[in-house]
Amino acid sequence: GTTLGASAAEKGRYFGAAIAAHKLSDSTYVGILNREFNSVTPENEMKLDATEPQQGVFTFTNADRIVNHAIANGMAVRGHTLAWHSQQPGWMQNMSGTALRQAMLNHVTRVASYYRGKIHSWDVVNEAFADGSTGARRDSNLQRTGDDWIEAAFRAARAADPGAKLCYNDYNTDNWTHAKTQAVYNLVRDFKARGVPIDCVGLQSHFNPNSPYPSNYRTTLSSFAALGVDVQITELDIEGSGTTQANTYRSVVADCLAVARCTGITVWGIRDTDSWRASGTPLLFDGNGNKKPAYTATLEALNAG
Ligand code: G3I
Repeated sequence: GTTLGASAAEKGRYFGAAIAAHKLSDSTYVGILNREFNSVTPENEMKLDATEPQQGVFTFTNADRIVNHAIANGMAVRGHTLAWHSQQPGWMQNMSGTALRQAMLNHVTRVASYYRGKIHSWDVVNEAFADGSTGARRDSNLQRTGDDWIEAAFRAARAADPGAKLCYNDYNTDNWTHAKTQAVYNLVRDFKARGVPIDCVGLQSHFNPNSPYPSNYRTTLSSFAALGVDVQITELDIEGSGTTQANTYRSVVADCLAVARCTGITVWGIRDTDSWRASGTPLLFDGNGNKKPAYTATLEALNAG
């Protein structure tokens, strides 16, 4: 293929980008989006603060702009995210106990129901494990409602949209030897053993000098896949430039293609200037929308073999 999306599709996979609704009026941005990508993830528009700004009051205007653009252009949509400790609306931030549990489950149900049939995969729960060497859950108001909050969220999501793949999504879960990776692995293994509905694991894969691309990345992908779930690379970006950056993109793509259940890759933005990393250059297109060496390496890797 001659584009990322078409090349990935030839390998039975998708290639997506995180996008922002307010950039859909930028013709350079939309030109690249429509040419190269066959999946999108709303970067912020489906988060809790965006979709339920006041309790029980749901707003989907900006998320709908992205979903409608995707449908009109034949792109899949990854939903991001239904339950998260961050970007909670103010009313939720200070809630606790049964009231918070019920509010969280109602949020999952209402948002997943609203988009039923339109979402390829949902990040049902995002970033629930702590960094560091403990493998513990991250402390949060949601966690303090009880360890079973994650499975409760997945059951509610399955009931609301039985056709969507339900993912657990996290960062720093790329290195197979890290405690956080093992903790997520044990969660998924436990869910599969007990019949808790889960279909996929999202590896965000924000690579930078503090959390570099690990040489055992392919082992991580294949180990999760062996549990009977799909693996998706959900928020890929790689700090750096030039040939070094390009070769890391090439390795990530090759690793995904080597694992049958690695079903797709999403980059977390289109141009370097769209990245959440204010001063970095971690993406495939420069600020003018020109293809970087990282783009060429990614395309070549998608077409290899
Ligand atoms: O919308 C407000 C705007 O009204 C206000 O004037 C402005 C002033 O700062 O802030 C705007 O909100 C910002 C929002 O992005 C939309 O642009 C927030 O401050 C800012 O914190 C927020 O950052 C997002 C971040 O998640 C928040 O946690 C990034 O765009 C987004 O790329 C990033 O994405 C996360 C994934 O969801 C989860 N994994 C990690 C990834 C990178 O941090």
